[in-house]
Amino acid sequence: MDRFKPLTRFSVSAIVVAIFLSSLHFTCTEAYDALDPNGNITIKWDIISWTPDGYVAVVTMYNFQQYRHISPPGWTLGWTWAKKEVIWSMMGGQATDQGDCSRYKTSPPHCCKKTPSIVDLLPGTPYNQQIANCCKGGVINSWAQEPNNYASSFQLSVGAAGTSNKTVKPPKNFTLLAPGPGYTCGPAVVGKPTKFLTPDGRRVTQAMMTWNVTCTYSQFLAQKTPTCCVSLSSFYNDTIVPCPTCTCGCQNNDTHPGSCVNANSPYLASVVNGPGKNSLTPLVQCTKHMCPIRVHWHVKLNYKEYWRVKVTVTNFNYRMNYSQWNLVVQHPNFDNLTQIFSFNYKPLTPYSSINDTAMLWGVKFYNDFLNQAGPLGNVQSELLFQKDKLTFTFEKGWAFPRRVYFNGDNCVMPPPDAYPHLPNASSRVKFSTLVFFMASLIFFCLFE
Ligand SMILES: *[C@@H]1O[C@H](CO)[C@@H](O)[C@H](O)[C@H]1NC(C)=O
Ligand SMILES: *[C@@H]1O[C@H](CO)[C@@H](O)[C@H](O)[C@H]1NC(C)=O
Ligand SMILES: *[C@@H]1O[C@H](CO)[C@@H](O)[C@H](O)[C@H]1NC(C)=O
Ligand SMILES: *[C@@H]1O[C@H](CO)[C@@H](O)[C@H](O)[C@H]1NC(C)=O
Ligand SMILES: *[C@@H]1O[C@H](CO)[C@@H](O)[C@H](O)[C@H]1NC(C)=O
Ligand SMILES: *[C@@H]1O[C@H](CO)[C@@H](O)[C@H](O)[C@H]1NC(C)=O
Ligand SMILES: *[C@@H]1O[C@H](CO)[C@@H](O)[C@H](O)[C@H]1NC(C)=O
Ligand SMILES: *[C@@H]1O[C@H](CO)[C@@H](O)[C@H](O)[C@H]1NC(C)=O
Ligand SMILES: *[C@@H]1O[C@H](CO)[C@@H](O)[C@H](O)[C@H]1NC(C)=O
Ligand SMILES: *[C@@H]1O[C@H](CO)[C@@H](O)[C@H](O)[C@H]1NC(C)=O
Repeated sequence: MDRFKPLTRFSVSAIVVAIFLSSLHFTCTEAYDALDPNGNITIKWDIISWTPDGYVAVVTMYNFQQYRHISPPGWTLGWTWAKKEVIWSMMGGQATDQGDCSRYKTSPPHCCKKTPSIVDLLPGTPYNQQIANCCKGGVINSWAQEPNNYASSFQLSVGAAGTSNKTVKPPKNFTLLAPGPGYTCGPAVVGKPTKFLTPDGRRVTQAMMTWNVTCTYSQFLAQKTPTCCVSLSSFYNDTIVPCPTCTCGCQNNDTHPGSCVNANSPYLASVVNGPGKNSLTPLVQCTKHMCPIRVHWHVKLNYKEYWRVKVTVTNFNYRMNYSQWNLVVQHPNFDNLTQIFSFNYKPLTPYSSINDTAMLWGVKFYNDFLNQAGPLGNVQSELLFQKDKLTFTFEKGWAFPRRVYFNGDNCVMPPPDAYPHLPNASSRVKFSTLVFFMASLIFFCLFE
């Protein structure tokens, strides 16, 4: 019996290493998210009626992404008109810039720009300027987190356009800022006309014509450097494995003075409220990793049939309160999560057979708001997993997550050889893992 033991261990570590390599593989591929392979934002442009010089359309953005939301200050949607179209009027949204409307002598249009930029209206907009799904300040939740609130709409009346489905042209070059860059939008394609149900559910109406645009996210487009990192610890080893140094930037007073602020700096308040207060650029607390967000995974307790993990998310950014934050974690034991304390949980199964990915987010009015850096800038939870005798082990970092995302962006993990390990680990197993690791690496390099 004992003879087979190292073999089991070896296969477990082999699986772990293989998963680690496959995660490396996926993070190298742009605009493809292994945990949400079909994630996209679909823009539907429904022409609901024709007017003497154009049409009235309702434009709706659907966030078909499991865990990526659009946070304050919200989306900005832009496009390039195919002809000389103008926007006569809008409801539930507005163009940020009217542009040059001097060719219209009386009652000028709402916007005459060739490339209009549209933003949502704010909550509290008068009812006569609202339409359904509007006026949320451009904030859209993710599909998994709030399945009833994943769309945002506005209505516009377009002039100097075609007046039939043969003469209208869809706008080109859609751009979506949400709020920063990150999305790439495809061309508008003619789709099946949308059917609308009246609020009383007794009548169905149909769009004259419907165009679809699909936008996909790429973390690389959104920001060149990571924004989040992971640190690890365990009850069986005193070492706290920190985030890798310089994950999100380096502290360097010569080249980047003021790139971070010390928590105990007497100037903290004046720097935080200084210029750039409302910019999206993070102002981080000085740390070795310099990341705005750190996720800490602590393997806390070992029971006979269960084991327990504590997860802490810390905000190091003085310029950002994260409302409705979310975390996506991949770990093989999520198929047997027994209990989670003080976070919401939903399993994500991007590949229907594998149930190893979880989305975690805060409880409304309790911890769904992750405060800016400082004493209140953290949220935490504990997870209780049931052990599966065949796979469970504390060896080889099995107890640590394979992948972590904060608000849809990948969090950088420490290198696997730094993970806290069990005391007295057998050097033979270590050696075989190393050999396997190198072999896999060569395999992946050859066949990529
Ligand atoms: C966008 O997401 C929806 C919902 O998952 C899916 O039905 C649709 O096929 C996706 N579109 C593209 C172009 O991937
Ligand atoms: C335009 O409408 C006509 C009838 O209303 C329909 O037969 C035709 O397929 C439509 N063309 C397009 C491009 O939608
Ligand atoms: C599309 O929009 C982007 C940004 O507004 C601009 O840089 C680019 O030149 C546009 N492309 C076309 C073909 O209009
Ligand atoms: C357009 O988007 C709607 C909503 O997601 C979808 O039902 C429809 O199949 C899409 N049509 C095309 C042609 O992509
Ligand atoms: C950078 O400068 C600040 C104040 O000038 C100082 O407190 C801090 O220790 C310096 N950091 C490094 C890494 O030199
Ligand atoms: C974050 O929220 C706190 C409390 O509501 C507020 O005092 C602070 O100004 C906010 N910070 C930012 C950057 O919005
Ligand atoms: C995945 O695992 C969780 C936790 O055990 C369970 O609640 C959920 O039903 C599972 N989902 C699927 C699709 O197997
Ligand atoms: C959870 O663990 C128990 C005990 O090992 C096992 O019987 C059960 O099949 C596991 N559930 C899943 C969904 O894997
Ligand atoms: C704890 O883990 C660290 C990092 O892997 C390792 O260097 C150290 O030897 C371990 N401590 C013990 C007591 O095994
Ligand atoms: C190995 O474990 C024993 C007890 O199980 C302990 O006394 C010893 O110090 C450990 N050795 C190392 C190198 O950690």
